Amino acid sequence: MNVETASPRRRRFAFRGRKKERVRRRESASISPSPIRGPHEKPCPDLPPFGDPLDALHLEDADLAPLKPGLIRVEMELAPVNPSDLIPVTGVYSHLITLPMVAGYEGVGRVVEAHGAHAALIGSRVLPLRGPGTWQRYVDCDPALAVPVPDDIEDLRAARGYINPLAALRMLTRYPVAGKRVLLTVSGSSCATLLGHWALLQGAVEVVGVYRSSERVARMRTLGIVPVSGEDAGAIEAAARAADVTFDAVGGDLGSKVLAAMRMGSVFVGYDLLSGQPVVPPAILRAGFERFHLRDDLAEMTPAVWQVQFDRLWPLLRQVEFPEVQVFVLEDWKAAIRAFREAGGAKPLIDFRS
Ligand SMILES: NC(=O)c1ccc[n+]([C@@H]2O[C@H](COP(=O)([O-])OP(=O)(O)OC[C@H]3O[C@@H](n4cnc5c(N)ncnc54)[C@H](OP(=O)(O)O)[C@@H]3O)[C@@H](O)[C@H]2O)c1
Repeated sequence: MNVETASPRRRRFAFRGRKKERVRRRESASISPSPIRGPHEKPCPDLPPFGDPLDALHLEDADLAPLKPGLIRVEMELAPVNPSDLIPVTGVYSHLITLPMVAGYEGVGRVVEAHGAHAALIGSRVLPLRGPGTWQRYVDCDPALAVPVPDDIEDLRAARGYINPLAALRMLTRYPVAGKRVLLTVSGSSCATLLGHWALLQGAVEVVGVYRSSERVARMRTLGIVPVSGEDAGAIEAAARAADVTFDAVGGDLGSKVLAAMRMGSVFVGYDLLSGQPVVPPAILRAGFERFHLRDDLAEMTPAVWQVQFDRLWPLLRQVEFPEVQVFVLEDWKAAIRAFREAGGAKPLIDFRS
């Protein structure tokens, strides 16, 4: 059964450099180890397509194509602005990205069109994940990967129910912390606060969190995380020496110092480099040094196993207090990105119904 959508056009964010030949040229240039340019050749002004998200993203109108068989159409309601959405726009993972693409990795919406057996989904709230970017009014996605949202989970929570919660859950599954001391960096973030709170539920003896902005301290305390200022080098070194497991998302100087201070038998898990700098291992490395990327886990996950993750997540998400939010109408998407950059700020969400 088909249902006519309310609008024949969609609004979405897309990366620059959409023209295919330009994208191909860029890709071939990146294959060549040392491209030689003649003096007459000028770089195309649209290249590279990656960069500061305020420059590399733009809002565009596109015609809504007929829904392909086997997919469902979701009208988006809310999507958060996460580091995970913006970091790829800067080009960090350009080798993994095929342009053109729409930004956004998570969010919540309502099914407005579906064929055949999936018609029963029409009207239900889902997370339309692992398909095209979620920062658009309509997302056509695979129903096997769309996650039904329980009725009692409000939109503001559901919209943030994937990247950070699933990453935290998978890290604690791979690196269990019962009876252990845990150290977090970037501990004011959504991901780290979930990690810390659920580590305590799993039986961690103590969770210490290194924060950058003092606005985060009250929430960390509420969740049982012991706050340590990023300025307090002595306390950070002591916490690193005591830690059995560190989950680090900042890298750079802080990540490197923590790794250097950790003892034999402990493990340092790096899951991002928000500082933009790598973790440099010390000459004598005592801790295990591991990396976590949710996408590696997803690559091996069948749709059935994928859905089971959310059966585990929803009960946990019902209980945890999420960071406060600031909601922006779609037209104000640039303001949402600027708000994202404010240290100590609330999590920006984009409202696609506006
Ligand atoms: N590897 C994976 O699979 C995976 C999956 C999910 C998330 N992540 C990573 O988890 C991290 C947190 O994401 P989120 O959505 O939870 O973040 P969030 O709630 O949006 O918060 C962003 C946090 O990053 C901090 N921050 C930003 N730039 C920083 C810098 N240069 N140095 C130190 N701190 C900085 C902010 O500090 P303030 O407190 O001062 O504002 C804030 O606490 C990101 O790095 C994200 O990429 C990785």
